[in-house]
Amino acid sequence: MSEKSGSIITVGIITVSDRASVGAYEDLGGPALRVAAEGYGWVVAAEAIVPDEQEAIQEAILSFHSQGCGLILTTGGTGIAVRDVTPEAIRAIMRTEVPGFGEIMRQRSFEITPNAILSRGLAAVVRTSFVIALPGKPKGAVECLSFVRGAVDHAVKLAQRLPTSC
Ligand code: MTE
Repeated sequence: MSEKSGSIITVGIITVSDRASVGAYEDLGGPALRVAAEGYGWVVAAEAIVPDEQEAIQEAILSFHSQGCGLILTTGGTGIAVRDVTPEAIRAIMRTEVPGFGEIMRQRSFEITPNAILSRGLAAVVRTSFVIALPGKPKGAVECLSFVRGAVDHAVKLAQRLPTSC
């Protein structure tokens, strides 16, 4: 699969949650992002629920990249709890971070709820996939995606053109 100019964006969605990964909590974030992604005209090609473990998060991202997902959305694990390690997992395998995404997500979300400043949400290029780490709360994840949605198509295209370094 490829994300050539004007082509449909192929999306992978990863819910990062200890409780959801063992079935102790219904995953609401993943389905909420699926609805949002499909509403944007994107094709959701892969979905996974993983625990708050760096290795599991990285494996899911790299697997979705191998499956041809030009855009990978994660939800959860961006906060400051001891088990929140999504940013660390992504930074360990990324080629480059794209700080503007995190800046806008926090700024716009802070206008809705001050607690949004606790999210360490970010965007990064991993191999040739564009990865956006969104907060765990379904409403927050969908809101944050909507705030940056205008730059996603171009980001996915550029990520595919860039040389990989890992
Ligand atoms: N962003 C938006 N737009 N709306 C929200 O309700 N909740 C925040 C924040 N970002 C929220 C939001 C809260 S309460 C937390 S603790 C952080 O995201 C981190 O969430 P996470 O650890 O589940 O990723």
